[in-house]
Amino acid sequence: MASQKTIDIVKSTASVLAVHGATITKVFYQLLLQNHPELKNVFNMTHQAHGTQPQALANAIFAYAANIDNLAVLSSAVEQITQKHSSLSITPAMYQLVGTNLLAAIKEVLQDAATPEIMEAWTEAYNDLATLFINKEEQLYRAAEAKKGGFRGPKDFIVTKKEAESNIITSFYLRPADGSVIPSFRGGQYVAVSIQIPDLEHLHTRNYSLSGCPTQNSLRISVKKEIGSPNGIVSNYLHDHIVVGDIIKLGIPAGEFVLQETQKPIVLIAGGVGITPLMSMFMEQFHYGQNEVLFVQCAKNSAVHAFKDVSQKLAKQKDSLQVISLYDEPLETDESDNIHQFSGLLSIDILQEKLGHLDAEYYFCGPVGFMKSVKNMLESAGVPSTQLHYEFFGPSESLA
Ligand SMILES: Cc1cc2nc3c(=O)[nH]c(=O)nc-3n(C[C@H](O)[C@H](O)[C@H](O)COP(=O)(O)OP(=O)(O)OC[C@H]3O[C@@H](n4cnc5c(N)ncnc54)[C@H](O)[C@@H]3O)c2cc1C
Ligand code: HEM
Repeated sequence: MASQKTIDIVKSTASVLAVHGATITKVFYQLLLQNHPELKNVFNMTHQAHGTQPQALANAIFAYAANIDNLAVLSSAVEQITQKHSSLSITPAMYQLVGTNLLAAIKEVLQDAATPEIMEAWTEAYNDLATLFINKEEQLYRAAEAKKGGFRGPKDFIVTKKEAESNIITSFYLRPADGSVIPSFRGGQYVAVSIQIPDLEHLHTRNYSLSGCPTQNSLRISVKKEIGSPNGIVSNYLHDHIVVGDIIKLGIPAGEFVLQETQKPIVLIAGGVGITPLMSMFMEQFHYGQNEVLFVQCAKNSAVHAFKDVSQKLAKQKDSLQVISLYDEPLETDESDNIHQFSGLLSIDILQEKLGHLDAEYYFCGPVGFMKSVKNMLESAGVPSTQLHYEFFGPSESLA
């Protein structure tokens, strides 16, 4: 616990940090990656270019400064960050590098305003936060190791099968290269995948949700090919070059976007490739669940709709499961297809019609705009925010 003097100084500088937070974290990442280019192996350089990761870090540090005397209010944020870190196999030694460069960035941006007293307080505060994270992450590493098939990441996995799920989404089935069993995981969790791309300097690391069933004997990730300008680095490499027999490095399964114990119905709402963690939850419910489950799959049309047959097949085998599909740009052939039931966007009326009420636990994942509109729609209909659970396919952002 930080000293009272440190708490007072850090709290009194919280507002300064809120104003300069984004600049400080931008300078911080420049310094960090210049001084320790090996850390490009873990950081997603595209999130750096977009500014979403510096913003997420700035928000976290501001929240810490403002709540340093009441860290309990940050517990869910700490849980989410440490889960992400553990998937990326972040080590205590890295905290030292981050701390040195973060404090140097604070000094560089605030200049004379960062007095020796302020710098001393921030050094103590950072060390306390780092210790909290390091201890929590060590607990996660130990828990992961203790599980069936557990390990401390990263570990080599071999691609045993590659299968197209739609025009743009392809699944990769993965087994440990040393012949051991796969690690146990919960539906909704993700792994970090690191690959070495020829001619590019460092490893490229991305998170992918596990889209398969915890009962199977391989892990499955399902990757959307990101076509853009420029094309997505890792997803295109996976689609175009990774084949059966190739080895890729995986971190431990992590993440707290998992189904919570409830008596209420469960509604899974997927937008595009956001279907992956929800597919895994749906399969978990198929095998072990007793709840009523409604799986809402939103996609442009059948050409890009992954897992449509398999989820319908599972729903037919268990009365408590329902699947509906909504296409906002249906193809002509989709009109007569019995998989596609609704055209346009998801509405409260559709949920009312399928559930008979709205009192359910909602899990959703998809593009940020999609998640904003789902959250807004459910909150406007009176669903309490404690019944809303969602996952970002990138650094967390505001859905307000
Ligand atoms: C918890 C979690 C789970 C995830 N699960 C999945 C999943 O199951 N399936 C899945 O497909 N994805 C998933 N993702 C997303 C995944 O991690 C990658 O972000 C995604 O595959 C894109 O990576 P990439 O390397 O192909 O693209 P990147 O190279 O990272 O590029 C991403 C986008 O940014 C654009 N871009 C690149 N560089 C620049 C630049 N300098 N300026 C402006 N724009 C630029 C590209 O055109 C592209 O559209 C998940 C992410 C998280 C955090
Ligand atoms: C106390 C110090 C730290 C804080 C407050 C912090 C905070 C954060 C936050 C808020 C996120 C975004 C989480 C999300 O939205 O999912 C994040 C992700 C991440 N952190 Fe940290 N972190 C710290 C230390 C470290 C260290 C020591 C490393 C290792 C070098 C590290 C590497 C990463 C990486 C690689 C990501 C994912 C980045 C991405 O996907 O772009 N962090 N961290």
